[in-house]
Amino acid sequence: MANKNLSEAKKAKQDEFYTQMNDIQAEINAYLDYDENTFRGKTVLLPCDDPDWSNFTLFFAQNFERLGLKKLISTSYAPESKTAKYGSLFEYAASQSDETPKNERGKIFVLDHDTNRNGRIDFEDLEWEYLKGDGDFRSEEVCRLRDESDIIVTNPPFSMFREFLAWILGGHNRDDESTYWDSRHLGGVGKQFLIIGNMNAITYKEVFPLIMGNKLWLGESIHSGDREFGVPDDYPLEAAGWRIDAKGKHYIRVKGVRWFTNLEHGRRHQPLQLMTMAQNIKHSKHKEVRGVGYLRYVNYDAIEVPFTDAIPSDYDGVMGVPISFLDKYCPEQFEIIGISLELADMAKIKQRLGRLNGGPRLYTERNGELVRQYERILICRRRESCQSC
Ligand SMILES: C[S@@+](CC[C@H](N)C(=O)[O-])C[C@H]1O[C@@H](n2cnc3c(N)ncnc32)[C@H](O)[C@@H]1O
Repeated sequence: MANKNLSEAKKAKQDEFYTQMNDIQAEINAYLDYDENTFRGKTVLLPCDDPDWSNFTLFFAQNFERLGLKKLISTSYAPESKTAKYGSLFEYAASQSDETPKNERGKIFVLDHDTNRNGRIDFEDLEWEYLKGDGDFRSEEVCRLRDESDIIVTNPPFSMFREFLAWILGGHNRDDESTYWDSRHLGGVGKQFLIIGNMNAITYKEVFPLIMGNKLWLGESIHSGDREFGVPDDYPLEAAGWRIDAKGKHYIRVKGVRWFTNLEHGRRHQPLQLMTMAQNIKHSKHKEVRGVGYLRYVNYDAIEVPFTDAIPSDYDGVMGVPISFLDKYCPEQFEIIGISLELADMAKIKQRLGRLNGGPRLYTERNGELVRQYERILICRRRESCQSC
């Protein structure tokens, strides 16, 4: 129980990570490079934000005209409702009026015209008021904003990623549990979205079918390494990789972060440049492949490809690749068959080992010993004549 509380507290702390401007800029620019009209005439909703100071609100407001937006709406969660209460710097001190801050209520910021009549629409034209409730994204009033919007962009609370995606795609609200992850709603309501989450979300049973069905993919700009997020002043800086800038703002680095989206971008249509199987065996930079070749799995009919850049261009069968393959995935080049979590035949492994060491995974065999692999995505190259898919 103590452990559960600890891990929940840890998750709640991560709900207060704030996205940096350069990460937002780089990602949005990728969509504009692909199609400069991606946001034109659209209503963009930024939920789970903090419009008083958020970089999302700042970026979209400052670029309102360049993006050609019709309307920008941004909502924040009430300071009193946050599980991890830091807030001294961010919310409690952030009232923009003389009245006493209503810390039990969320805020809504709207931008759709030149309020100060200076000839341009930007951050200074944002109008705000308190929401009726706390700004929970599942509340009736924020659900209505979702329904009104065309594109939803945010870094949602890390601990609620599944629920948040379900809320976008399924039209879920907290008064109607029946719509929650109802498969009939997946991808059915026509919303576009761009949200930040952890790479591991790829393996969620609710998320992977969307990736397989080409209804969700990874964004353009974050592929590997970690990303820096702003944290409140009193966030405990015990982990490695933190920094305090010259103005005293605190940052920490987070591993495995990705953009998840259904907005088109150019990178995902660029096929990977790969070597043939023979070339890989001769020249691969990976010692696991060079001079060794490709092992077959014991509990699924496919070969193990431990690195994305070692995928053989001429292999017609099914291949297991690391989940980071999705950073390079081009749906015109490969078809996704499934994920090891669902396809691994664990009965075979139990028979061999007499027990299971954890959940479903693919196994190879080396010198008579079974080797448990990391999570793998099973793919097959797209070819008219390919027999395997
Ligand atoms: C990861 S932070 C990101 C903030 C901002 N979008 C950004 O990237 O700079 C997530 C935000 O969602 C808020 N939040 C947590 N639970 C929420 C809920 N149920 N409804 C709405 N917002 C929530 C958190 O308090 C936090 O401000």
